[in-house]
Amino acid sequence: MQVESRTKGVWARVLAVCGLVSCLVLATVAVHAQSMAGRWAASGPTLDNGEAQKAILEVTQTGEQLKVNVRTPGYASEAKGTAKGNHFEIFGSDAAKPWFVGDLVGTELHIVQDNGDHWVAKAATPADEFPPLPYIDPPALHKVPYNGLAKTPPMGWNSWNLFESKIDDKTVRTMADAMVSNGMRDAGYIYVNIDDTWEGTRDAQGVLHTNHKFPDMKALADYVHSRGLKLGIYSGPGPRTCGGYPASYGHEEQDAKMIAEWGIDYLKYDWCSAGSIYKNEQLQPIYQRMGDALRATGRPIVYSLCEYGMGSVEKWGADVDGNLWRTTGDISDEWTSMIGNVETQVYTAPYAGPGHWNDPDMLEVGNGHMTDDEYRTHMSLWALVAAPLLAGNDIRTMSPVTKSILLNKELIAIDQDALGKQASPVKNGTLETWVKPLADGSVAVGVVNMGTAAAEATVNAKDLGLNAPVKSARDLWSHKAVHFSNGTYKASVPTHGVLLLKVSAQ
Ligand code: GLA
Repeated sequence: MQVESRTKGVWARVLAVCGLVSCLVLATVAVHAQSMAGRWAASGPTLDNGEAQKAILEVTQTGEQLKVNVRTPGYASEAKGTAKGNHFEIFGSDAAKPWFVGDLVGTELHIVQDNGDHWVAKAATPADEFPPLPYIDPPALHKVPYNGLAKTPPMGWNSWNLFESKIDDKTVRTMADAMVSNGMRDAGYIYVNIDDTWEGTRDAQGVLHTNHKFPDMKALADYVHSRGLKLGIYSGPGPRTCGGYPASYGHEEQDAKMIAEWGIDYLKYDWCSAGSIYKNEQLQPIYQRMGDALRATGRPIVYSLCEYGMGSVEKWGADVDGNLWRTTGDISDEWTSMIGNVETQVYTAPYAGPGHWNDPDMLEVGNGHMTDDEYRTHMSLWALVAAPLLAGNDIRTMSPVTKSILLNKELIAIDQDALGKQASPVKNGTLETWVKPLADGSVAVGVVNMGTAAAEATVNAKDLGLNAPVKSARDLWSHKAVHFSNGTYKASVPTHGVLLLKVSAQ
């Protein structure tokens, strides 16, 4: 999890991510000779729903050593630190780069978050305390029959990887338009998914309104549908989303009904602050609650579980009506993150299949921080492991190379293969070979070069699980037939690149 790079504006996000993945939050706080000990009420930037971000910092100090308990509505985290003069610095998981820096200025702490957000903390009064949340018992577990959706891995676009909070109705409409005009829709990219930060506030009846960026969600759904596409949205089982916006805790049925009335077709349901109320052992019933609520609406809504692979979700996700579930922390637009995510979830392979998919997170293809070869590898691996293909780039302004990667129809066919098998790697030096059996008896084979120099890949037909000698083979990136000689095919693979073949038996 890239805690700092994902912390766009909220204490909540950092605390959520750290709380959820138990990452180590190291804080180094330095202060004036004057003690920092006590309770501080911190106020941060205003969210898109008009709510100011709030945090309570409880600080104990021994000499230069500080212990800080940080709480926001829905989150709590312990941090440690040291003090130096008036200046303080708080480090997250990246020991080289402060998470927060600031100064003790008179009676206030002036804090600057790593993303540039400014916070001011004053001595807390009882009025600053967050209202306590009632504990709601999770429902009893019960298996539900398959909802019939996502027979192949969902394909579409999601706003988060590129836009984070800078997403609005107009942008979503232009994405839908682009999906039609650039051929993505016809290639199978159907879902246009709005991630976090669409939420407004709840009214006295508990109805969650949209914020100013999404003035009319039903009209937006109608527009997306009119383009032959489907609309997805985001919430979570906790009181707050990872971005600090209101989530569905205590309002599951109401929210499910509302999104069904809007015409939503896909829900990504993100654990985030639920960890402040429930234990990991309660993940399954908590996800069951929203699964039941969605089903009760009568509308077909793809249910995407997002809890980063905790609690062996691959074993029970389908039982609570989940169509896909995240298996890892957040992807970022870099080779190590991308490879890390797909390798982290290798053990989940037996649990993939039609209607229920392991999700190593959305695509970063086209976002600019990997090479073209790395993006081809990213796309190939996602197809080989039958991952959802949710583009995360600006699909309105794609380069020809990005287009050729996202719109590689031969590769999409591998991802969407009806058998729904998830390949696993066999390692040989710096090469990794992933073989995916396909419904027609052929196989897809990808050889990834993890090394820093070009390497020769050798594909041996006997290793592919085919039940007869090779009849034909095709390179799915050059889009040309290739020939096995004496049961072997060899090709040079660039650093971080991939050889991707479809091989059919006689
Ligand atoms: C979490 C999820 C991300 C994204 C953000 C939104 O970090 O894992 O995919 O949805 O929350 O806040």
